[in-house]
Amino acid sequence: MAAREPRLIRKIAELREALTLIRRERKRVGFVPTMGALHEGHLSLVRACKTECDCTVVSIFVNPTQFGPQEDFERYPRTLDRDLAGLRSCGVELVFAPEAREMYPPGFDTWVEVKGVSEPLEGVCRPGHFRGVATVVLKLFNIVQPDVAYFGQKDYQQALVIEKMIRDLDLPIILRVLPTVRESDGLAMSSRNSYLDPESRKQATVLWRSLCRAAECLRNGERRADVILREMRQVIDAIPNARTDYVALVNPETLQPVDAITGKTLAAVAVRLGKTRLIDNLLLEP
Ligand code: PAF
Repeated sequence: MAAREPRLIRKIAELREALTLIRRERKRVGFVPTMGALHEGHLSLVRACKTECDCTVVSIFVNPTQFGPQEDFERYPRTLDRDLAGLRSCGVELVFAPEAREMYPPGFDTWVEVKGVSEPLEGVCRPGHFRGVATVVLKLFNIVQPDVAYFGQKDYQQALVIEKMIRDLDLPIILRVLPTVRESDGLAMSSRNSYLDPESRKQATVLWRSLCRAAECLRNGERRADVILREMRQVIDAIPNARTDYVALVNPETLQPVDAITGKTLAAVAVRLGKTRLIDNLLLEP
């Protein structure tokens, strides 16, 4: 049977009304927030949501408040028609794609700040980013009121920030964080990969290769963080075009740096290739 077209909703009030009817039938509502330019990583979240919930809501909103002034808000890919076709093939029921003024009407001035886990790594390189993320995600949670929300491990720190927000603000939402989906050469799928020219695309495997080097060091019995970090940096420095924002080995709950790998540890990297900034991570276990 051909999949039905998802219902495309632009207004908060209209989405609320549609969801009131769905909730009246005691349906379990799952929510996948996105900024569009959907790829297999997003679709894996959507498929999990479809399997685990009765109604799947996907939001597509390039959230201006999580981009810094020098960042790529203007050029961020916007591919609504293609996104809708992908969501249709997954059988998604509702797509919420508001305009910026619907989410941030004139005079909007309330912000959500999650301290602690939002501060290191991306927090240093992209000041204000997680304030924008937490604010829009809380707004979306309030609008959709999902039972379950789906995020990718690719944005590990983001998932941690959302987990903390859910806990601290007593939101009745189950958070599901699903594995990063990778291209066959290891590059983590990301909407920003579309910025890469063919040469940079080849070089972009450097993030995954540096993470694999960390895992390899660990397998070879190395536990000292400074030694492993040096090895990881060497992989990245071999690419002349690559500029490292950070290479880190951190506690996966606090994101504070570790001196040695004695338990679960997150290896995280952020690298710029020309104008394109990519991030990736890998959970290491000794
Ligand atoms: O991960 C993203 O695409 C965005 O940060 C999110 C969660 C949709 C909030 O704008």
